[in-house]
Amino acid sequence: MSAAAVPTAGVDLCDKVVLVTGGARGLGAATAQAVVDGGGKAVITDVLEEEGAATAERLGDAARFVRHDVTSESDWQAALDFAVAEFGTVDGLVNNAGTAAGRLLEHETVEHFRQVVEVNLVGTFIGLKTVIPLMREQGGGSVVNISSAAGLTGLALTAGYGASKWGVRGLSKIGAVELAEAGIRVNSVHPGMTYTPMTAPVGIRTGEGNYPGVPLGRVAVPEEIAAAVAFLLSDAAVYITGSELAVDGGWTAGMTVRHLRGQ
Ligand SMILES: NC(=O)c1ccc[n+]([C@@H]2O[C@H](COP(=O)([O-])OP(=O)(O)OC[C@H]3O[C@@H](n4cnc5c(N)ncnc54)[C@H](O)[C@@H]3O)[C@@H](O)[C@H]2O)c1
Repeated sequence: MSAAAVPTAGVDLCDKVVLVTGGARGLGAATAQAVVDGGGKAVITDVLEEEGAATAERLGDAARFVRHDVTSESDWQAALDFAVAEFGTVDGLVNNAGTAAGRLLEHETVEHFRQVVEVNLVGTFIGLKTVIPLMREQGGGSVVNISSAAGLTGLALTAGYGASKWGVRGLSKIGAVELAEAGIRVNSVHPGMTYTPMTAPVGIRTGEGNYPGVPLGRVAVPEEIAAAVAFLLSDAAVYITGSELAVDGGWTAGMTVRHLRGQ
């Protein structure tokens, strides 16, 4: 199936309220769109105020935006309170906000490494911690943590990023085992290379054949990742917790014949 044919409204999220961090653009915006398309309500949070407000406006009355820095505990509580005030509760959390920059291990600075871990991993941890009491009280919920193919394999040039994404994967497992008895499911999604404002500057191109390094031969579009996230948020995934879902065109599955032949 080509990227253009991805159904974004195939999942039933009727009446579910989902908080999506980093939802102003890219994968987060596509996820918020999938939530609304599925009949749910999306609370988009981000540090990008103009883009966040514009995305929420585009999605209509089932979406709201609130400024939120995921590294701040008080911002997290305020974002959760905002969601509850606007839509009554929070059934789903997508820890999507993230930052990336490619650097060789030997050129990575301690300061930058800490910055990346702070947003990608500590931000995810605070988010999980913040929603637990509410989800416990209401008898359950679904948390989807956006890791990466770089959280499943050792990817060059990703010292801080890759380490943070492995951390997100591990934290998801811990959340899954600790929170199952409360009806809270926690899963991680591992996108491969996807065309978004994070990756566009490095010159990737969409379309068939433009990414021969992965089995499916192309980079993803955000809607393809969002469809997987929406599924995990939905009741169709009610028996799935602690799983790691690679949505990476086969990247982490192994080497292709093309690769083996050095083509
Ligand atoms: N694009 C890819 O190829 C790819 C691959 C694997 C994983 N991912 C992951 O997907 C997620 C979304 O990435 P994207 O490609 O859409 O990138 P993006 O840069 O378009 O979106 C990331 C969003 O997170 C927000 N953000 C950054 N720091 C924040 C903070 N401290 N508080 C709140 N929001 C913050 C940004 O403002 C931005 O809107 C990230 O976690 C990324 O690591 C992306």
